[in-house]
Amino acid sequence: MPVIAIDGPVASGKGTLARRLAAAMNFAYLDTGSLYRAVASLILERGSDPNDSVVAAKVADGFTADDINRHDLRDEKVGQAASIVAANQEVRKSLLEFQRNFAKTPPNNHLGVVLDGRDIGTVVCPDAEIKLFISATPEVRAKRRHKELLDRGDASIYARVLEDLRERDERDRNRDTAPLRAAEDAVTLDTSDMDANKAFEAAKSLVNERLSL
Ligand code: CDP
Repeated sequence: MPVIAIDGPVASGKGTLARRLAAAMNFAYLDTGSLYRAVASLILERGSDPNDSVVAAKVADGFTADDINRHDLRDEKVGQAASIVAANQEVRKSLLEFQRNFAKTPPNNHLGVVLDGRDIGTVVCPDAEIKLFISATPEVRAKRRHKELLDRGDASIYARVLEDLRERDERDRNRDTAPLRAAEDAVTLDTSDMDANKAFEAAKSLVNERLSL
């Protein structure tokens, strides 16, 4: 089962790229950030603190695929809480099996999978055929996220988005368990000066080359 692992920091465009690659290849797609966001959303709904590691571990233990359909997953406050629960080792352990199962036996008999996140190439699928690390400057990424929020009809202030993004990146990069980093055998794609089409073309030619298509 060919696996395409796509990692990168907040709003690097990895989700858009992963979704387009999966559609083009007819591969199954898993946005692994939505798992951490789902756990965060469940914790916030209970009125609990995402820093409470016992509660977070318990909620993650009860995670099911249905939780990915929760409506508030893309909210900024859920993203921040997701990055807090994602530093919890027990939470990561609970969600790891779901991700590996998806990669091994994707739904609907797809012939390959695309997973995006922070530790796909390093921890979840270290044997992935293709590993991409998507980067862009914090300012470019904040601009993209700001636009995404405004397009959704949410209130958004650019300076606040940039601050939140730096805070979340910092936490994701410096945590002890599965920190955000490029795998040694990953190809880094700096998309600071690329639009979504250009990033897709660059990634697609790498995939074609690696899978000899
Ligand atoms: O879309 P965005 O880049 O804002 O974030 P996301 O991919 O939805 O991930 C939300 C949070 O989940 C991240 O800030 C990480 O802390 C965490 N995450 C992780 O630790 N490992 C993954 N494989 C995916 C997400």
